Amino acid sequence: MSELQTEMRQEHQPLLEVTDLRTHFRTERGLVRAVDGVSLTLERGKCLGIVGESGSGKTVLSRSLMGLLPSSNTVTSGSVKFEGKEILGLPSKQMRRLWGREMSMVFQNPMTSLNPLMKIGQQIAEPLNLHLDMSRADARATAERLLRDVRIPEATRRLDQYPHELSGGMRQRAMIAIALACGPTLLFADEPTTALDVTVQAQILQLIGEQRRDRNMSVVLVTHDLGVVAGHTDEIAVMYGGKLVEKAPTSVLFAHMKMPYTMSLMRSIPKLEDPSHTRLATIPGRPPDLVHPPKGCRFAPRCAYARDKCITEEPPLRQAEDPNHSYACWYPVGSPEFNQREAELNSGAVPVTLEAR
Ligand SMILES: Nc1ncnc2c1ncn2[C@@H]1O[C@H](COP(=O)(O)OP(=O)(O)O)[C@@H](O)[C@H]1O
Ligand SMILES: [Mg+2]
Repeated sequence: MSELQTEMRQEHQPLLEVTDLRTHFRTERGLVRAVDGVSLTLERGKCLGIVGESGSGKTVLSRSLMGLLPSSNTVTSGSVKFEGKEILGLPSKQMRRLWGREMSMVFQNPMTSLNPLMKIGQQIAEPLNLHLDMSRADARATAERLLRDVRIPEATRRLDQYPHELSGGMRQRAMIAIALACGPTLLFADEPTTALDVTVQAQILQLIGEQRRDRNMSVVLVTHDLGVVAGHTDEIAVMYGGKLVEKAPTSVLFAHMKMPYTMSLMRSIPKLEDPSHTRLATIPGRPPDLVHPPKGCRFAPRCAYARDKCITEEPPLRQAEDPNHSYACWYPVGSPEFNQREAELNSGAVPVTLEAR
């Protein structure tokens, strides 16, 4: 193949291509189907949001994509292609070459991911030494520049501070600096703002967005809060019980969501105009047991719109009107059955969930 052809192929090839990925854990209770047949693609420079309730498999999914799972009790299958190359099941020595340089991760809790005994500057310099073979002086200068990039004031002084000397927001910025250090192509940010207050949250998300554009990096933003991803992603994938149940470009999802589950997630977003003590709508019932998941739609037992078919038959992912929009639901938002049930619910004629019926 000529260089031009190679280049053209790379342009059209998604950065990440995931097909029927399964990550199961062997436990005493049985096999935990934490990720159960997920397929998705991510283009270069784009930001994909992965949203779902706590326990829906978001962290296991992103760690599976990065090859960051304990090998002892993990069983994976399917395919994960990064720049066209299969990376699922790659020996950790080869995976390590990708970490930092090609993909890196910002974890949920900087306090447990930063080394408390090591100065911030050293923690940023370490991957630079390791992956880019930088000299100590160059690595320190780069670390300082990175601290400025992530808007940490007094960068020079911060290099010699320890994590506990920084505020929560500053620590999260330092984590992002470490993740950005080697110029990754793909950044995973797993609930990067959950521990932070709302104003700092917005700043961190803006920072990730800026860095993505400056570096033409792709980002996977993982969160339980649909509100967080609204203004910061190109596409959203919704997870429930280890499965991807709806996926669409962000604006399409917000305007035309199909899954009652997505609708519930939307209702649990706090609104600015709500009084500060308003109780958020939470989804009734519990997430499915991933050792013995429900036979039909995994959300059916908690769904106000479920019917018998939902309990017995699993809905496949199918395409909506927009070709980039897919969802797994027998009676989606706006269908005659959905509308009928909505009317019954409004008149109080039926209890809200099948479990209660
Ligand atoms: N190492 C493990 N062994 C067994 N079960 C696990 C392991 N890691 C995660 N799980 C289970 O996988 C499911 C998905 O977890 P996770 O991906 O962390 O959810 P989320 O990030 O969406 O909150 C949960 O039920 C969790 O208990
Ligand atoms: Mg998680």
